[in-house]
Amino acid sequence: TTSETAATEAYELVIVSNRLPVDRVVDESGQASWRPSPGGLVTALQPVMRAEDGVWVGWAGVADEEIEPFEADGINILPVALSEQELQEYYEGFSNDTLWPLYHDVIAQPSYHREWWESYVQVNRRFADAAAGAAAHGAVVWVHDYQLQLVPAMLREVRPDLVIGFFNHIPFPPYGIYSQLPWRRQIIDGLLGADVIGFQRVADAGNFSRAVRRLKGYETRGPIIEVPIDSDDPEAGSHRHVTTNRHGGLVRTVLARAFPISIDAEQYQSLARRPDIRARAAEIREELGNPETIMLGVDRLDYTKGIGHRLKAFGELLRDGRIDVEDVTLVQVASPSRERVETYRQLRDEIELTVGRINGDYATLGHTAVAYLHHGYPREEMVALYLAADVMLVTALRDGMNLVAKEYVATRVDEDGVLVLSEFAGASDELRQALLINPHDIEGLKDTILQAIAMPKRDRVRRMRALRKKVLTNDVARWSASFLDALTRSAHGDHPLQDP
Ligand code: F6P
Repeated sequence: TTSETAATEAYELVIVSNRLPVDRVVDESGQASWRPSPGGLVTALQPVMRAEDGVWVGWAGVADEEIEPFEADGINILPVALSEQELQEYYEGFSNDTLWPLYHDVIAQPSYHREWWESYVQVNRRFADAAAGAAAHGAVVWVHDYQLQLVPAMLREVRPDLVIGFFNHIPFPPYGIYSQLPWRRQIIDGLLGADVIGFQRVADAGNFSRAVRRLKGYETRGPIIEVPIDSDDPEAGSHRHVTTNRHGGLVRTVLARAFPISIDAEQYQSLARRPDIRARAAEIREELGNPETIMLGVDRLDYTKGIGHRLKAFGELLRDGRIDVEDVTLVQVASPSRERVETYRQLRDEIELTVGRINGDYATLGHTAVAYLHHGYPREEMVALYLAADVMLVTALRDGMNLVAKEYVATRVDEDGVLVLSEFAGASDELRQALLINPHDIEGLKDTILQAIAMPKRDRVRRMRALRKKVLTNDVARWSASFLDALTRSAHGDHPLQDP
C-alpha cells in the first residue's frame, strides 16, 4: 500500500541506497503501480526501516520520472530521479559493468569509461544532496552499497554534524584486483568520509584496509583507520573523534570492520508454519511428479551466482547415470536482473541454452530434468519452494553474503533439508555446517550433490539444527542494531572493535 504523504520533515535516521524497496512499474496502457524490488539489500533493510521512524532515499527503478515523497508499507520514501542517460552511465555502466565485475573477482571483464565515471560522481552528488536535505541536525545517515561510495565524503563536506555510516553489501576485492580501477583513490576518499564502514566478511574489511594503506599511506590499527586532517583546516575542530597519532599528527579515526548481514528469520519461520504455504509445498512436489529428491537453486540471473557450474554438474550426473531423471528434479528460479547490460543478456542466452539441452537430452514426458523459471516470486511462494526442496544449491563464484542460503535455513522449521554452499559466498563464514563446496571443482560439486541426496536423516537434522541456531540468533535486527550501535558509539568517540 502506498500513499502520497509528503516526507519533507527532518529525520533522525536516513537510509540511502540506489534502489528503493519498491519499484515503479508502468504498463503498456501507461498505468503506473509499485511492486517490491529484488535483491538482498532490500530484504535486509525493509524490517529495519519498518521498526524505525526514518526516511529511505533511493531511486524508484524507472528513468525520467520525478516522484514526490510518499509512504509505502509504513516506510517514508524520498525518491531520487535518474535520467535515461544516467541510468545507462551511472547504473548500468559504472555500477554494474565496472564496479560489479571488478568487485566480484573479475569473473566478467570490467569496462572502464570516463563518461561513466563522470555520471557516477554526478549521481552520487544528487543522492548526497537529497540525504543532506532530509537529515535533522546530528542525524544518523546510513549509506548502502557500491553504487554510492562517494556519498559519505560528499555528505561530510556539506553536513559535518551528521553521523555517517556506510555498508558494502558486495565483496571488497583484493588489492591486486582493486588497483585496476582508474578512480581507485577517489573511491577510497569517498568511503573514508564515513565514521563506520561495514563489510560482509572479515576478509573484505582486510582488503579495504590494505587498499587504504597502499593507496593513501594512512596508518591502520586493527579495524581503526587514521585519516590525517590538516591542522590549518578551519573545520578541523568540527570533526568527530579527532586524536593525535603516534607521530603527533591530527587524525580522524574511522572504523572499518565486518558486520555480516542477515534476514528477518522469524518472518520466514512463521510463513513456514502457515498451513496454506505447507499445502502449497506439497502441491509443488505433486506438480513435479513426486520425485524422490527435489533440488533447488534461487538466484538473480547473474554471472556471479555460478548457475552454469551448477547446471554442468547436474547434467553430467544425469549423463553418467549417477542420478536418474525419474528420481531427481532441479528447480531453478532465476529472477530477471539488469537485462539491458550485455553480459547479463549473454548469460541468459547461455543458461537457457544449457537448460534446453539438458531437458532435451534427459527429460521424459513425465519428468522434467530442470524446471527453469525466469521470474521473481512473492515471499510466500519462495517459502513453499524452500519447504519442498530436499537439497538447496548455492554455488556462487563470488557473493557478498547470499541471503538465499539463510532464507532456506530459516524456513526449515522441520529441521530437515541439506544446504550445499559455496565457500565463495560470505554466508560460508557463518554456515559452517552446510556442505561447503568449491564451484569451480565440478567433480567435487558432483560428489557433494550425491552426498546431499544420500545423507541420512539424523545427519541432516544435526546439521540443520546447528545452521538454524546461527541464523535465528544472528538475524537482521541484530545486524542493524550492532551496526547502528557502532555508529552511535563512534559519534561519542568510542569505536567498538567487535560485537558486544
Ligand atoms: O545486494 C547487492 C545488490 O546489488 C543491491 O545493491 C541491489 O539492490 C540488488 O543487488 C539487486 O540489484 P539491482 O538493484 O541492480 O537490481
